[in-house]
Amino acid sequence: MESIIKLGQGEDTRIYYEELEAYGTKYFTSFDVKNRWSAQDLTTLDNLPYIGRLSPLHTDLFVATGYRKWGMTGGTNAGIILANVIVHGSDEFESVFLPSRVHADPSIRHFLKENLNVASELIKGKVSPDEQSINSLKNDEGAAVHYQGKKAGAYRDNDGQIFIVDTTCTHIGCEVGWNKGDRTWDCPCHGSRFSYSGDVLEGPAKEPLPLLSHEKTTT
Ligand code: FES
Repeated sequence: MESIIKLGQGEDTRIYYEELEAYGTKYFTSFDVKNRWSAQDLTTLDNLPYIGRLSPLHTDLFVATGYRKWGMTGGTNAGIILANVIVHGSDEFESVFLPSRVHADPSIRHFLKENLNVASELIKGKVSPDEQSINSLKNDEGAAVHYQGKKAGAYRDNDGQIFIVDTTCTHIGCEVGWNKGDRTWDCPCHGSRFSYSGDVLEGPAKEPLPLLSHEKTTT
């Protein structure tokens, strides 16, 4: 069975890199890791891409998304369908991928479950007591901290510089969490991702996390 880990809700993400590295070391000679990379994937409620007119009310607005890692195939498919819809007025598969399709079961159940999950993450982030002292951060370590009477997020880089950000996501206010594997602040609600200094790396958030402090050392 497929297991999906939502951004910001999984375990320590370093294990994925470590497992890949162990695999490479085992099966290749002169194996060396130059760079690391990760991405997240958009999935629709029923796992089929959304391709076509956004809604009956927006007939001039077209969407193509939710490929679940099948971007080359899905993108080509989307190009054919959208071209037919725009040029010829329809495509034989248009109804299958229509973004406004509604299937009572299981997608509605899934939709409700997802929204309950967002609500639960929103509350959990506000009440979570897990905070570390800023001075106890080691180099290349990030954590939720208490800063000037408020919950915040701090990361100490390899030069000892400390970056403290407001951890309230600028999308709709969930609390972002530290991603040890990628050194990012990730939002468990809708997957926004921010750099350790607060810049937006992936939406839906458009605004950065406010950088509350950037200092060489706290001691
Ligand atoms: S609240 Fe953070 S992405 Fe929506």
